[in-house]
Amino acid sequence: MNKFLLILLLLGFFSLVIFQAQAVVCMVCKNFKRGNCLIGKDNCTVEYGFGCRTRNFFLFNQRNKWVHNHTELDCYSHCSFNHMYLGHLKVSSHCCKDKDFCNKYLGNLPKTRLN
Ligand SMILES: *[C@@H]1O[C@H](CO)[C@@H](O)[C@H](O)[C@H]1NC(C)=O
Ligand SMILES: *[C@@H]1O[C@H](CO)[C@@H](O)[C@H](O)[C@H]1NC(C)=O
Repeated sequence: MNKFLLILLLLGFFSLVIFQAQAVVCMVCKNFKRGNCLIGKDNCTVEYGFGCRTRNFFLFNQRNKWVHNHTELDCYSHCSFNHMYLGHLKVSSHCCKDKDFCNKYLGNLPKTRLN
């Protein structure tokens, strides 16, 4: 075989390996509770720049405390850890792409259960 062709083949092979390593399957869910999806269970695949997202929704109650209402899971392109306040609603977003379905481990974090 021609050396040039061999190099092209090797390059193709390695880019395939890298591409495969970056693709992660995430869980999609409209209402996720205690490790189970109650509504809208599906999955999505993320590649470069995207991440598996977990959003914990909290409501401000009468006793001046944020209480966890529900959790949603999906794939998102502008993934970062952040808190967003919309009046009496707080949305806490977490992202990951280290392993398949990693976003289901970020739902309803232990820290929020203690409050
Ligand atoms: C992803 O969802 C599809 C249906 O939407 C299902 O067929 C497939 O098995 C799921 N993949 C994984 C890895 O769960
Ligand atoms: C609170 O959770 C319920 C489902 O448990 C959902 O139907 C409702 O829309 C949620 N409220 C807010 C403000 O997100």
